[in-house]
Amino acid sequence: MEKYVIKGGTPLDGEVTIAGAKNAALGILAAAILTDDECIIENVPYVEDTKVLLRAIEALGATVKYIDLHTVSICGKTIDKDNLCVDDEYIRKIRASYYLLGSMLGKFKYAQVALPGGCDIGLRPIDQHIKGFEALGAKVDIVSGGKVVAKADNLIGRHIYMDVVTVGATINIMMAAVLAEGKTTIENAAKEPHIVDVANFLNSMGANIKGAGTDVIRIRGVQRLVGTEYSIIPDQIEAGTFMTMAVATKGNILIKNVIPKHMEAISSKLSEIGATVIEYDDSIRVMADGRMKSTQIKTLPYPGFPTDMQPQMATTLALSSGNSIITESIFENRFKYVNELARMGARIKVEGNSAIITGVEGYTGANLVAPDLRAGAALVIAALAAEGISTIDDIKYILRGYEDFDGKIRALGGQIEIVDNERDEQKFKLRVG
Ligand code: UD1
Repeated sequence: MEKYVIKGGTPLDGEVTIAGAKNAALGILAAAILTDDECIIENVPYVEDTKVLLRAIEALGATVKYIDLHTVSICGKTIDKDNLCVDDEYIRKIRASYYLLGSMLGKFKYAQVALPGGCDIGLRPIDQHIKGFEALGAKVDIVSGGKVVAKADNLIGRHIYMDVVTVGATINIMMAAVLAEGKTTIENAAKEPHIVDVANFLNSMGANIKGAGTDVIRIRGVQRLVGTEYSIIPDQIEAGTFMTMAVATKGNILIKNVIPKHMEAISSKLSEIGATVIEYDDSIRVMADGRMKSTQIKTLPYPGFPTDMQPQMATTLALSSGNSIITESIFENRFKYVNELARMGARIKVEGNSAIITGVEGYTGANLVAPDLRAGAALVIAALAAEGISTIDDIKYILRGYEDFDGKIRALGGQIEIVDNERDEQKFKLRVG
């Protein structure tokens, strides 16, 4: 099985270019089947999650072509309307399979999708998605084999109040509502940058969505959508991961292809603990020298501090001086990396939904296992900051969301390699000394 082997202790230095936003791409790729015309989507990150979703879209009968590594053409015209069922062993592993519920329901008034998987970071119910579809007039059932079936004679616009702020349900209801009759209002909507990106994509197809990025989204249903060309926004979380990597390794990284406004919650926390963060038009430089100060953080929906940056930030804070507290308010099972970090010398105690961190001077290398996508990235950061050699198993989680993670880190001077056998691991160890 593939794993990372990492020799830490080198400050990362140089430039890195951020890929397109995975979570925006997943919504946009699913939304492309809402028209019979061709959609050309640029800046699609080449990661496992997008590859799996594209395979599922192709299995439905759509024509899917990679024009280049990051540009995808999707034409939904060829979808087999008698077989609107998404289920294979891969799609069950990714969370975003549920976006095909919204887009198929919106287009064909019928969808059958295997219940979503994704990282095990909490309960992750889909009751708000179902509530939204039902409000629009769909009947939703969970049938044997763990499949969600949604069908409707007609979808009619409604006023929908979300009981919790959810990214997935907000995007899904938008997709189901764009071709519905009349006006849909989503109140208490999520405001993440990728909500705005999916709305912009749908509008470029001829949809009429206003208010994305605020907590009230208004959608006026249209008769049909048309083909478009669209470029996905940069990935906020990949950028944040490299920002914390610069700080934890006491390095100096210019992070290119970012929207600095999307990074504000992360930039301001890093500045607060003593890092230098310089914003340019579409890049950010992060530098750190010496030990950082402690702070307190609570994860919140955008524009608050993103839950997807919580493990990377905790890993960085665990090297600062003093005591920090991180409170996780979105997912209840997001501290699984703490035991792994403890084996590297971190001092973190989890109490309820808070991690109480006592900063240590440094980490030492260890053999680690990635518990989920972002926690896996956090362990890579820890290993790069640590003295000595670490290995990280189960990197399949990390590959779901980071494109060429090891290549980008090597270009910054980090010593990391993917190995799949003992001999290559030994060769790496001999080479790095
Ligand atoms: C998305 C992101 C994920 C990120 C999360 C929060 C994708 C593919 N994944 O996940 O990386 O961590 O947003 O920014 O885009 N909830 C309900 N009922 C529902 C739906 C959600 O109670 O029907 C709860 C969840 O348990 C959680 C909170 O709402 O506590 C937020 O979840 P949500 O924003 O929906 O997360 P995802 O869309 O699954």
